[in-house]
Amino acid sequence: MGWLGRDVVSIRDFSKEELIEVLDKAADIEKNRPRYAGLLRGKIMASLFFEPSTRTRLSFEAAMHYLGGGVIGFSEPSMTSITKGETFDDTIRVVDGYCDVIVIRHPESGSARKAADLAKKPVINGGDGTHEHPTQTLFDLYTIKKNCSDMHDLSIGFLGDLKNGRTVHSLSYALSHFNPTLYFISPKSLKLPEEYMKELKKKGVICHEEEDLFKVSNKLDILYVTRIQKERFLNPEEYHNVKGVYQLEPSFLKHTRPNLKIMHPLPRVDEINPQLDKAKQSVYFQQAHNALPVRMALLSMILGGH
Ligand code: CP
Repeated sequence: MGWLGRDVVSIRDFSKEELIEVLDKAADIEKNRPRYAGLLRGKIMASLFFEPSTRTRLSFEAAMHYLGGGVIGFSEPSMTSITKGETFDDTIRVVDGYCDVIVIRHPESGSARKAADLAKKPVINGGDGTHEHPTQTLFDLYTIKKNCSDMHDLSIGFLGDLKNGRTVHSLSYALSHFNPTLYFISPKSLKLPEEYMKELKKKGVICHEEEDLFKVSNKLDILYVTRIQKERFLNPEEYHNVKGVYQLEPSFLKHTRPNLKIMHPLPRVDEINPQLDKAKQSVYFQQAHNALPVRMALLSMILGGH
């Protein structure tokens, strides 16, 4: 399947070769950015954010601007006609006529697929509920590629809220193309949902589950830390029981391989002490910045500017 006009709803819709194609394009954009300026002149991206965001919205918008395109949209749905009772479906149908590509973030799992079914223009999932965040995965992979000599055969630990963490649900699947050993480290109540675990095992991925980070910390090439997602808890007491359960301090590095890389999709709350930010192991801000070339690559491929 080609890239032109393609929806990006689930990372599961892309082959290993297609993922690598995006990473290669992003690397070229990062090296030769001025060459890409003006590539999408005359194209418009609609940025529909029904949930708060800093990185996803701003990096998509910056990517479109750097490519010479225009941006419309909202980050505060209460300022749209949804407040007057307009439905999600009608909102998508209308915006579809104003743009060339739609980027959507929404609290409901499956909403990006629904938008893609309604819209004639390509839809990019910027995070749908607790389900998936496929474009985060693309620059997570890009970050791994930049920091590790080989993307294959790595030992990768996912730490924190693996139940609600959509970045984990997308990235763990994408990694299955690269023969990893995966460690899922969480409290029992925030374990990786069974459907994702079964899927990984069916693909032959070696998976371990653990509650104590220190039992596996010296086995890891990458530790992918996630925030406990307070906003997803229906019961405040359940959140209170797991709040602050993992907090990385500088002394943590005494228990790891020297070449460990610490990643985090951000935002962080209290799970990584800022004193760790300057450590060579910490690549989470570089990871956030990698969003730009990767989202530029994706937009240029989908809108036919490459
Ligand atoms: N990582 C990520 O999706 O960040 P935002 O919620 O700020 O977009």
